[in-house]
Amino acid sequence: MSQPPLRLGVNIDHIATLRNARGGTHPDPVAGAWAAIQAGADGITAHLREDRRHITDEDITRLQMLCGSENIPLNMEIAATDEMLEIALRLKPHAVCIVPERREERTTEGGLDVAGQHNRITPIAAKLKENGSRVSLFIEAARKQIEAAASTAAEIVEFHTGAYAHALEDGKTDKAEDILVALRDGGSLAVSHGLEVHYGHGLTFENVAAVAAIPQARELNIGHFIIGEAVFLGLDPAIKEMRRLMDEARV
Ligand code: PXP
Repeated sequence: MSQPPLRLGVNIDHIATLRNARGGTHPDPVAGAWAAIQAGADGITAHLREDRRHITDEDITRLQMLCGSENIPLNMEIAATDEMLEIALRLKPHAVCIVPERREERTTEGGLDVAGQHNRITPIAAKLKENGSRVSLFIEAARKQIEAAASTAAEIVEFHTGAYAHALEDGKTDKAEDILVALRDGGSLAVSHGLEVHYGHGLTFENVAAVAAIPQARELNIGHFIIGEAVFLGLDPAIKEMRRLMDEARV
């Protein structure tokens, strides 16, 4: 029996990284989002970081306008800060994914400690939900984080697949298999708590199939690899190939 469809959210942050390397306006992440939608992306994801190292306030506003007019969900990633909450409440994106953020990190390392920061995350998730956004929490596939997430207003958990991707890259296949089991078990536990399950971080053509095959998965969010591969293939073929690999894994 075939499984329910799996959505592909394309994270366009690194089009902005490339633009910002020269400080001009090209390449425009909003044009990239439009091209990703034409190529079959089911959603656009963008992270407005506190230091604005890639996506800017103007970008996120324009992305919300584009996604609204194309009827495509915008998944805005934010840290759990008052400033980001205020921006997300004003923009009302389709979804807000709360992620951990440390200034010195290169990318989002590790999941959000919802269990440890429950008092901080709970009111933020509640305000976002009341305001009409679907709330997602980016966490590790660990029981205590899943149970803590389930006790907030979040409807979605996105499981961090970075450790799985790194283990495979380092040739540690046993470790990768253990992490995959945890990602699968986490999916089942989250669904049993009524949460929708997404996965993301570090996914590539080589490693996407095993994650896409997890029956509970409803969405994958993929950025760096797709944008990097677009340098060689173009954005449209890179997205179509990722889509093909995801669909193939679902049969
Ligand atoms: N999902 C979340 C919550 C993220 O923070 C990121 C990275 O910004 C991604 C998915 C995409 O990760 P990658 O760029 O490695 O594909």
